[in-house]
Amino acid sequence: MTFMAYQCVDCRRRLSLSEGDGRCSGCGRIYERRGAVLLAWPTRMHDLSRDEAAHHDHEDADQAEVHQLGRPRNRHYHEALWKKLRALPPGENLLEIGAGSGYDAAELVSGYSVVLSDVSPETLARLERRLGSLAAGYVAADGSRLPFADASFGGVYMVATWHHLPYPGQGLAECARVLRPGGLLVIGLEPNAFYFRPIKLLRRLLCRLTHMDPGEGSHADAEMEGFSYRGLALLFRTGQWQEVEIRPAWLLCGLWHYLAEFLYRACRLPRRLVLPDRLEKFLVKCDEALFRLPGVKHLGWHWNVTARRAVR
Ligand SMILES: C[S@@+](CC[C@H](N)C(=O)[O-])C[C@H]1O[C@@H](n2cnc3c(N)ncnc32)[C@H](O)[C@@H]1O
Repeated sequence: MTFMAYQCVDCRRRLSLSEGDGRCSGCGRIYERRGAVLLAWPTRMHDLSRDEAAHHDHEDADQAEVHQLGRPRNRHYHEALWKKLRALPPGENLLEIGAGSGYDAAELVSGYSVVLSDVSPETLARLERRLGSLAAGYVAADGSRLPFADASFGGVYMVATWHHLPYPGQGLAECARVLRPGGLLVIGLEPNAFYFRPIKLLRRLLCRLTHMDPGEGSHADAEMEGFSYRGLALLFRTGQWQEVEIRPAWLLCGLWHYLAEFLYRACRLPRRLVLPDRLEKFLVKCDEALFRLPGVKHLGWHWNVTARRAVR
């Protein structure tokens, strides 16, 4: 824990935690560490976030492998997010919310002072075993109620995580609070409601076809409907943000990704299908060309959003 200034998640008072643990002088709440991980859940945390913590604590499959994060269709969009963040001055304080697999963290810890947070303490413990002191800290926290002081970070990012929060607007307000004026928010790979609303309605059928128990997996993933372009734009219209950019990701790539995942599960294939690199890169290029056509952005499977904390 190098530079961190904390704030109590229960009473919002400034905290002074030596070595990351201690007691809040306002409400008496005790902050403990489990190994390198500071435990900073709010006392009253939404049931969905508790479920998420429990699920991801026990989910030790390599998520980078499961979601094929190293394949060109993923790599292209992650690299675009890294590029945005790398425009910040070296050494800047960054916060990742929902660090999960650590795929993005592993890239950004070189050059930045990155605090990794996730609602699941075990996820962070696994990450700590991989990244050790390369990260500036490991904090088990709910993205809806962060334990950091106002304006602590020059950059905040979360990838495939925002839709796991029970109330996205609350999470966004917390991002605004912990960012410095002019600080950068990068949100990656958020589902488009155009596809995920109907998928939610068909979930029972899809689970049956893919031999999945509807109760297994992340409840947040099961319950979310994704975001429309308009819905996203509205969430950012609070006066706290400027330079908001909402871009689509994955059109043909999304068709391939979800079809391949469906076939893998429905046909119980021994391993996930993989396209040749060149073909996948071609699909990415086609998608980027298609997204330039009017209206096609609404057909992307995911959204990437960047915004700056307004300077007043
Ligand atoms: C789909 S994973 C994405 C992980 C990672 N960003 C990646 O790309 O591999 C979502 C992550 O969000 C975390 N998460 C879920 N609910 C959360 C919450 N309320 N606050 C913070 N993190 C949460 C989960 O534990 C999980 O690690």
